Amino acid sequence: MLRKLKFNGEVVVVTGGGAGIGKATADALAQMGATVAIVGRTRETLESAAADLRARGGACEVFVADVSREDQVAALAAAVEGKWGRVKGLVNNAGTNFRTPLADLPSEKWREIMGANLDSVFFMCRAFIPLLLKSDKPSIVNVASSFGVIGNPQMPAYCASKGAVVNLTRQMAIDYGRKGLRVNSLCPGPTLSPRVSGYIEKGLTDPNALKAQVMLGRLAECEEIGDVAAFLVSDAASFMNGSTVVVDGGQTIN
Ligand SMILES: NC(=O)c1ccc[n+]([C@@H]2O[C@H](COP(=O)([O-])OP(=O)(O)OC[C@H]3O[C@@H](n4cnc5c(N)ncnc54)[C@H](O)[C@@H]3O)[C@@H](O)[C@H]2O)c1
Repeated sequence: MLRKLKFNGEVVVVTGGGAGIGKATADALAQMGATVAIVGRTRETLESAAADLRARGGACEVFVADVSREDQVAALAAAVEGKWGRVKGLVNNAGTNFRTPLADLPSEKWREIMGANLDSVFFMCRAFIPLLLKSDKPSIVNVASSFGVIGNPQMPAYCASKGAVVNLTRQMAIDYGRKGLRVNSLCPGPTLSPRVSGYIEKGLTDPNALKAQVMLGRLAECEEIGDVAAFLVSDAASFMNGSTVVVDGGQTIN
């Protein structure tokens, strides 16, 4: 089992790897011996995360790209291919949220959320599948949400995009499982990332209401999600394909 958790320098791409769950995922993967390619829009954020990972002995490279943009994803895949030729894993973690009832949701916000949460997964998977198929036992993890399997007030675009990620994952697992490429979705419950902490600090989110939804009575730390993401990418999860892995402290069971 422990042997299968080791990456031996193989490359794993993590989108949104500069902060929150993505950074925690990159950290776990680096601890497991992966060379981690973290992708995001802001170089300073990425360099700061990379410095943290390297200070702990991790191998990490930084790539600046907006993964909701097809042209930028194509350039990213070309750069990764030029550097390493292939990748072992892809974690599609980048995403965002916007709160409003559907009747008040501007079209451009709908498209922005769909772009960041769903188009990004399509663009990244399409661009990286050829590089993944060059590796032994490759794997994709698509980070959805507990709100991809249940609804939540005031999050029409978020819930729609994450539900789509869950079922896109199942679909891809059918087409690519037979080629040896595993594809799974990971559905975190409420997690104390910088984004969620910011919502709480600004009074946009009531932490007690979130805690009340979760049977463990608390929010997750980012590493509690990142550890599961890293496991799913690894060969230790070698028979998991098309799974919807809910890591929510018991939020969706009640
Ligand atoms: N935190 C939670 O409670 C929670 C719960 C369920 C699901 N999730 C999902 O987990 C993922 C990570 O969330 P988080 O809370 O850590 O968020 P976060 O905002 O703290 O980190 C996300 C990172 O992705 C980057 N990013 C966003 N859009 C991007 C784009 N178009 N191109 C490149 N990078 C982009 C951000 O800049 C940021 O660095 C998201 O997909 C989110 O929907 C989070």
